[in-house]
Amino acid sequence: MDKNTLLSQLEALLSAETDPVANMANTAALLYHGVTGLNWAGFYLLKEGGLVLGPFQGKPACVRICVGRGVCGTAVQLRKTVCVPDVHLFPGHIACDSASQSELVIPLIKNGVILGVLDMDSPHKNYFSQEDRAFFEKAAEILLKNCCF
Ligand code: SME
Repeated sequence: MDKNTLLSQLEALLSAETDPVANMANTAALLYHGVTGLNWAGFYLLKEGGLVLGPFQGKPACVRICVGRGVCGTAVQLRKTVCVPDVHLFPGHIACDSASQSELVIPLIKNGVILGVLDMDSPHKNYFSQEDRAFFEKAAEILLKNCCF
């Protein structure tokens, strides 16, 4: 589906609700089913100093990730989006689904506080473009605006 349409749909889907679990669940579902080429889309939330699995779509995933470990933990440590064109070349990558070949992780930062990450996996190498990165960062922004974390 067209990315601008997806962002409008996300805004409409989240705007009447502020519950974070409900809104993360619908965000994961919309992204997973609306964006082609993903095999996992979902959230890890920072709890007591570590990342814990949140709402997602895709195969079951590892539950806890330490800050600084894997692509997700690295995005938290750097407080920056991390785009990995080939997960096999990323030291410390945590393989949850052997189909995953590339990954994009966006930190969720609200009022300067890091809350977790939005994580997308693709079964294709070099899948995420600069345009995709901007799109998923915008989706994370819409989620944060519509959630009372
Ligand atoms: N690959 C991630 C772990 C989470 S799964 O992709 C769902 C990482 O290295 O942090």
